Parts: sequence; C-alpha cells; structure tokens
Amino acid sequence: MATTDPKHRGTWNSKIGFILAAAGSAVGLGNIWGFPTQVADNGGAAFILIYLICCFIIGFPVMVAELTIGRKTQKNPVGAFKALSNGNPFVPLIGYWGVLCGVMILSFYVVISGWTLAYVFEELFYFFNYDAAAAYVGDLGNGVKNSIFTLFFMILTVLVVTGGVSKGIERATKLLMPVLIGILLILIVYIFTLEGAREGIVMYFRPDFSTINPDLLLSAMGQAFFSLSLGMGALITYGSYLNKNQNIVESAAYVTIFDVGIAVIAGLLVIPAMYVAQAGGVNIMDPVTGALHSSTTLVFDVLPEMFHNVGGLIGLLLGVTFFLLLGLAALTSSISLLEVPVSYVIDEHGLKRKKAAWIVGGLVGIVSVVVSFELGLIDIFVSIFNEVGLPLGGLMICLFLGYFWKGENALLEMENGNEGVSNSSFSKIWIIFIKFISPILIAIVLFTTIWGLIKS
Ligand code: TRP
Repeated sequence: MATTDPKHRGTWNSKIGFILAAAGSAVGLGNIWGFPTQVADNGGAAFILIYLICCFIIGFPVMVAELTIGRKTQKNPVGAFKALSNGNPFVPLIGYWGVLCGVMILSFYVVISGWTLAYVFEELFYFFNYDAAAAYVGDLGNGVKNSIFTLFFMILTVLVVTGGVSKGIERATKLLMPVLIGILLILIVYIFTLEGAREGIVMYFRPDFSTINPDLLLSAMGQAFFSLSLGMGALITYGSYLNKNQNIVESAAYVTIFDVGIAVIAGLLVIPAMYVAQAGGVNIMDPVTGALHSSTTLVFDVLPEMFHNVGGLIGLLLGVTFFLLLGLAALTSSISLLEVPVSYVIDEHGLKRKKAAWIVGGLVGIVSVVVSFELGLIDIFVSIFNEVGLPLGGLMICLFLGYFWKGENALLEMENGNEGVSNSSFSKIWIIFIKFISPILIAIVLFTTIWGLIKS
C-alpha cells in the first residue's frame, strides 16, 4: 500500500533540470549505438525517415500521456494505474508490466554499458602496448570480466539513484549532458577531417526504400520507444516528480526533438567513422551477406580498429573519449531504468530510497551477471521486452488514457502550467492520436510481427 507522503517523494528543482534528466534518460546506447546501427542495417535514410515518423507520430503523443499520468498521480507506474483504476483489477497490470520490462531491459543494458567502460581501458592498454591486457578487457565473451564491469556500472547507477531526484538524478544529468554533447561534437569534427568520412556521409543520407518491410517497421517503432524511454512508465515516474507549473506538452516536445537530434547527430559520427575504418583497410561489410557490420561488431570491432589505425595520442584520445561518451550516455539512461522499480518499491512497499535502490540494484545485478555469461540472452530480452514489450506497453497506455481515464481528465491535468490547452487545436489532434492513430499503428505493427513469428 502507498505509504510515502507524496510531498516527500522529491521534485525536480528546475524546468531545465527536468528536461535534461528526461533527455538524459532518452539519449543513451539507443542513440549512439542502436540508431546508427539500424540505419546501416536498414537502408540508410529510408530508415531515418520512418524512424522520425514513429518518434513524432507515435512517440511524442505517448510521452505527453505518460508525463500527464505521472504528474496527476504523483506515483510510480503501478501506483499511478492503481490510483486511476477505479478499482478495476486489470488496470494496474499495465504498471506491473512496465516495471518488469524496466528490470529486464536494465539487466542487459548494464552489460553493454560495462563493455563501453571496458573499452576505455582497452584503448589505454593498446596505447601503452600492454597487448595481453588490451585483449583481455576487449574480449566480449569473457563472462568473469563482463560481470566485473557490469557490476561496477550497476553500482554507479545505484549511487546516483540513492541520491534522490534532485540531488542525485537531476544533478548528475545536468553535469553529464553538456559534457556528452561537447564530446560528441568534437569527435564529429575530427572524424570529418579523416579520409573516407565523406563517403560515409553520402551513404548515411542515401535512402534505399526497397528495404522497407514489416520487420523494418517494427525495428523503427521498437527503436523509437526504446530511444524515447517510452512504454514502461519511466516517464510516468519522471512525470511524478514534476511540479504543477511545468508545461508538459512543451517539455515533451523538447525531449523528443533533443533525442531525435542526438540520434541523427550520432549517426554523423558512427557511419562516417566506419568508412574511415574502411579507408584504413578494415573490413566493414559482412563477407557473406555484403551488409554493413552492425551493433556489437560495429561498435566494439570496427571502431576500435579505426582508432588503432589513427594511432598515436590522437587515436588514443579518440578511442577513450568515444567510449567515455557511450558510457556517460548509458549512465544517464540506466538511472531512469532503475528509478522505475525503485520508486515502485519506495511508494508501494514503504522502503527508504537508499535501501530500495541497493536491493533492486542487487537483484537486477544478479540477472545481469547471468547475462554477462550468456550473451545470447541479450537478443532474446531485446525481442521480448524492447521490441514487443515497450510498444505493447505504449498501446495499453494509449487505450487506458483514451477510453478509461478519458482525454478530458488528462487535459485537465495538462492545463496546469499550460492554461488553455484543453481548447487548443493541439489537444484535439492529440486526443485523436492517443485514441486512434497511435494505438492502431502500434497494433498493426505488433500483430504483423507476432503473426510472422507464429508462421515461421
Ligand atoms: N532511452 C535509452 C537509450 O536510448 C534507454 C532507456 C532508458 C529506456 N530508460 C528507458 C528504454 C526506459 C525504455 C524505457 O539508450
């Protein structure tokens, strides 16, 4: 039962603090590793276009919905749906599903984040010619080493979350986000000066519409939900710490634009970097399929080889800052994943924040150690909890808001900090999206995929 006094749950200190925290949650491995990889895999600019449509047509309305539910109830996702359920026992299941997705996504997210930290060391060891040490930390298949870095990253995440909303999460993201953007821009400017970069830029913006198929649509939608941190209540939770004079629609717009912008900019780093690697003699295509290398191979094979080719102090600086960039982006995201189950335990089971963070962090840590040894689980978890789980959560949030809680009530909450919004044309369009367009699009893509899985 709800035991914490809402006044003591904490609130964001400033408008920009919240926007940076939400943008920090959004900008993560999904942007810098996931998005460029998917672009490379799925027909370049054709994927970018579909991704943008998914973000603005499906993602943005759902983000407004999550923030509104959170601020109205001032609770974690489970508590929030309970509070608005009118006693209907099925409604809180949306919240439980979200908490489960968050926990499972976090359990593999920290493993990949651990790799980024390990590669900071890999670059250092390589520079100092400690080849054996470099090979050791660079070995993604080493379960023991993976566990060490994974748990270290988990501890960092727990430490931020124990600090609380404004002193932990807000302060950390306010510090880290500008650093992250600075590093990203510096890296891009430098990469552009290297041989091969131009070819990458051309590739990046050349659309190949022949690759569009239901699979690609699901990937784009899954990627949009993942990147915007939607569908599992992370933004219900962040919204629950908003004060009543913040304009939800405007904040959501900033966060969406920021996240999409960083993804597109990160592509300007990663794709040209691949072609720089190719100019340096690295093989960037799969010899069998002819497709560009992606995901793990791209980030942890192709790019390090490119940094090594550049060589010397500059190669070292490029490599170290790139992996630090990934690590920082991952940290501001993993804290939002952990905050969801932690706020659930605090609100619903009355634990103190510190205890809640260590217990939940410890339990997820155990799962992540299993994942560290059984890397095949990552793909399985991505399919279930990210590609299907998040859109499914988003679908249920739309249906809940549109048909159960009702748009008028949501708009009434949105009036706080945005007077007149209920009568604006925005609100009319938004309701149509929440009730019809977003859920129908999500449902079509989900059913096509599930149907495809059953048939195969
Ligand atoms: N958005 C993050 C990324 O792009 C990942 C993430 C953080 C997330 N919190 C989330 C994904 C909540 C889904 C739900 O890397």
